[in-house]
Amino acid sequence: MSLQCNFSTSNRCNANGINNGVIIIPVILGFSSVVLIIIVIWKTCKMKKEKERAPVILLQDKPNPAKRLENEYESMTNATEQILAARDPSFKRWEIPPENLTGNLEYMQSGTYGPIYKANILSTDGSGEVKAVFKSLHDNANAKEILEYLDFVKFHMKVCNHDSIVKLLGCRTEKLPLYIFLEYVSGGCLLHSLWQLRETAAESGEVVLNLTEKSMYSIAKQVACGLDYLTTKHKVIHGDIAARNILIHEDLTVKLAGLSLAFDVYKTGTLSSHRAAQVPIKWLAPERVIKRPITEKSDTWSFGIFLYEVVTLGAPPYPEFQPLEIFPKLQRNYRMPKPSNSSNALYDLMKQCWQWKPYERPNWSDLTNKLEALMSNADEIKLLQVADELDLNQYKQAAGVF
Ligand SMILES: *[C@@H]1O[C@H](CO)[C@@H](O)[C@H](O)[C@H]1NC(C)=O
Ligand SMILES: *[C@@H]1O[C@H](CO)[C@@H](O)[C@H](O)[C@H]1NC(C)=O
Ligand SMILES: *[C@@H]1O[C@H](CO)[C@@H](O)[C@H](O)[C@H]1NC(C)=O
Ligand SMILES: *[C@@H]1O[C@H](CO)[C@@H](O)[C@H](O)[C@H]1NC(C)=O
Ligand SMILES: *[C@@H]1O[C@H](CO)[C@@H](O)[C@H](O)[C@H]1NC(C)=O
Repeated sequence: MSLQCNFSTSNRCNANGINNGVIIIPVILGFSSVVLIIIVIWKTCKMKKEKERAPVILLQDKPNPAKRLENEYESMTNATEQILAARDPSFKRWEIPPENLTGNLEYMQSGTYGPIYKANILSTDGSGEVKAVFKSLHDNANAKEILEYLDFVKFHMKVCNHDSIVKLLGCRTEKLPLYIFLEYVSGGCLLHSLWQLRETAAESGEVVLNLTEKSMYSIAKQVACGLDYLTTKHKVIHGDIAARNILIHEDLTVKLAGLSLAFDVYKTGTLSSHRAAQVPIKWLAPERVIKRPITEKSDTWSFGIFLYEVVTLGAPPYPEFQPLEIFPKLQRNYRMPKPSNSSNALYDLMKQCWQWKPYERPNWSDLTNKLEALMSNADEIKLLQVADELDLNQYKQAAGVF
């Protein structure tokens, strides 16, 4: 004690306690600071060490990007080869090798899976070249798209097997690039052919197709037959019935095309909302506009619009209304008036297709029979004609098609 007192020259001994505190507290504080600093340094070192170790682990996890890409590409190629090797044996029968493709491809349009071309192929029976529509899967397709494309080919193998539906001629699924060949329909899109009838009527007198009342009913009947086949045989709906999706041969046989919505239904049992949203409103049954359950009777409604298109030689439906104005009008029981060139019987058929309640619309066998009956009494000499000219931009506006 005295020693301590002696250390501090100025302090009195009765202040010993205080003096002790003054010394001990800094010592403790100093000591704990040192400990703290040591702990901090130790921790930092440990973290640094961990940090130093960490990249090693990361590097093992993540190979360098170039290496990884190469591996991915290789495993993708492997995946593709495995997918194609494991495909259904039923594909083999349809295989058409690239050697059988003759001449140049002629670009037509872009499609869902890639570009669409007109092509010539050597036929199976060796009888020479036939024209075909060539639809290939685009080059950068991933494994998922390849699988979907194989489904798409299979859908054509099963479903495109009726006189009123574009036929599958063959495909290539053995190796990339994948493609299908579909029947080439000489007259092209029915809507354009109908328009040409107007133009020729108005201008040159040079007739491309001779469309009489009788042939009009025949066209409608063929379409109804195709739809009957889709619903009864395959339980799918077409989803986009319109003159723009019907192809016509010069001999006036017609084929249903534009089957991508039908493919969705085939695969998933329902319409994909993305693709369904692209169908112009003026062709849609009310239950489709308000997203109620859809049946084949939704196609029946569109078929009524299609009848209107044929008899008016491709006029836009509801020309005086905007697409979004239609639904409330239909709800209040408004329907398109009878086109001037339509017979009463045909207009009756349209109105049956436009029944608000789906189950009150006729079924396909009904429609086929009725069209057959109309056909047997129809004029087969006088050509259908419509005086008005048609402007493409006005059409697009009025039809709500873009
Ligand atoms: C790809 O397949 C080859 C043999 O076919 C094999 O050697 C290679 O390891 C495979 N690559 C990957 C990434 O699976
Ligand atoms: C390919 O063309 C040849 C004629 O050069 C023909 O004999 C063969 O049947 C064709 N193959 C297919 C799958 O169409
Ligand atoms: C259409 O009919 C006219 C006669 O009215 C005929 O000269 C022409 O060849 C026919 N065209 C076709 C494609 O049948
Ligand atoms: C189609 O409707 C008629 C009545 O309009 C009915 O007699 C017939 O059985 C129906 N056919 C099918 C396949 O549902
Ligand atoms: C269609 O209507 C036009 C008038 O727009 C008329 O000249 C023509 O004869 C009609 N055609 C038929 C087949 O009814």
